[in-house]
Amino acid sequence: MNSYAAFLGHQPVISLAELNAVIPDFSYKGTIGKQVAVFESGYELDTSFINQLGGSFILARRITDKSLSLNEIPKILENELQGAKRGKLTFSLRTVGIPPKQVRELYRACKQRLKKSGRPSRYVGTDKKAAPAIVLHENDMIDGKLGCEIVILRDEEGELWIGRTIGAQDVDAYTKRDMDKPVRDTFVGLLPPKLAQILLNLGVWAATRDKKSKDSKKLKLPKLTVFDPFCGTGVIPLECLLRSCPVLASDVSIKAVNGCNKNIEWIRKEEKIAKKDVASEVWKQDATKPFDLKNNKPDVIVTETSLGPNLLKKPTLKDVQKMKTENEALQANFLKNVVETLPGIPIVCTFPLWHHSKGKTQLVKVWEVAEKLGLEPILPHEIHPEKTGHNSLLYRRPGQMVGREIVIFVQKKK
Ligand SMILES: C[S@@+](CC[C@H](N)C(=O)[O-])C[C@H]1O[C@@H](n2cnc3c(N)ncnc32)[C@H](O)[C@@H]1O
Repeated sequence: MNSYAAFLGHQPVISLAELNAVIPDFSYKGTIGKQVAVFESGYELDTSFINQLGGSFILARRITDKSLSLNEIPKILENELQGAKRGKLTFSLRTVGIPPKQVRELYRACKQRLKKSGRPSRYVGTDKKAAPAIVLHENDMIDGKLGCEIVILRDEEGELWIGRTIGAQDVDAYTKRDMDKPVRDTFVGLLPPKLAQILLNLGVWAATRDKKSKDSKKLKLPKLTVFDPFCGTGVIPLECLLRSCPVLASDVSIKAVNGCNKNIEWIRKEEKIAKKDVASEVWKQDATKPFDLKNNKPDVIVTETSLGPNLLKKPTLKDVQKMKTENEALQANFLKNVVETLPGIPIVCTFPLWHHSKGKTQLVKVWEVAEKLGLEPILPHEIHPEKTGHNSLLYRRPGQMVGREIVIFVQKKK
């Protein structure tokens, strides 16, 4: 078994659910600090694996399970850099539970050790803050050619977990696909690409969770056909194409359909994704009206349903009640339509959750409708819902007026 540590994003429960969904033999060992999950898996996760995750920004693999002390870190670093190219090396330490003074002493000792063995080096990051992920990429520190990062976690009992960073989020790539795509519609709200990846990973899990994966050391992520019936300008479809998943997309608004088509064309050119390799189709359709997909049945629906009107200021309870009534009806009619015209297809969707002057309001009736339709809300095992009162996950950035309740529905077994 390999031991890994994942540094989780600002919604740690969702990040954990994603890891659990993507890694079939995920075995959770606990969280160190607030946001570092330690887990075991028989799979060899490689440096590109992190590109499939929206919820983790650093992934490290344990390099020693002996009970070592901090004094041995310089030697460990030297060993890890044995195969590095000639020239000045760059290293960093990413720590949890180690006071800044000790971090400072450690990196100085590391520098000295490398100097003694004839390798000049440079430390990136500070004693209080590890280097940003982008710096690790810029300095070739992930593949170990010109440097590396050592991860040191000290738990509450004082036990050390020592590893090496094997993956760091590609921040530039996210910014590019978020900001450079030709059509951005800030009016209907913009789904962050990272959240789209998380929804996609949860969807793939929901559609394949009963199928046993073939024993293999390398993790192969399934390439399923995904349907987004509220596609907007296509953040989810773009993530599908990047993952080589064929995608079907529709929206009631022709403006959205055109925008989604333009963005798909753009990502195909940018990333050289040919139509013959990964298919896509976009059309205009009301998601509450029958889907005609008999000849092109999706494996899973992954969608960000309507969040209601764009809000410029905190709504009143009265405003919210009106939006809630409309939204309940839309969501219920959509779910009914899926059950009738695409029976058995798992659904990952988001329900709006409003923060207003008197507190917060979430959808209620749609849960009763779902129950009647035989839809069961599920979550990857060991993931416990928080704060929603339903078997769902809450995604909300501080200060946001409309949060998203992430729901995974599957048809109950009869
Ligand atoms: C929150 S936006 C989705 C944004 C999308 N995730 C993106 O990447 O741009 C919701 C979308 O639902 C669409 N919509 C609203 N009611 C609909 C309906 N009844 N059927 C299909 N689409 C609908 C809107 O036109 C809007 O594009």
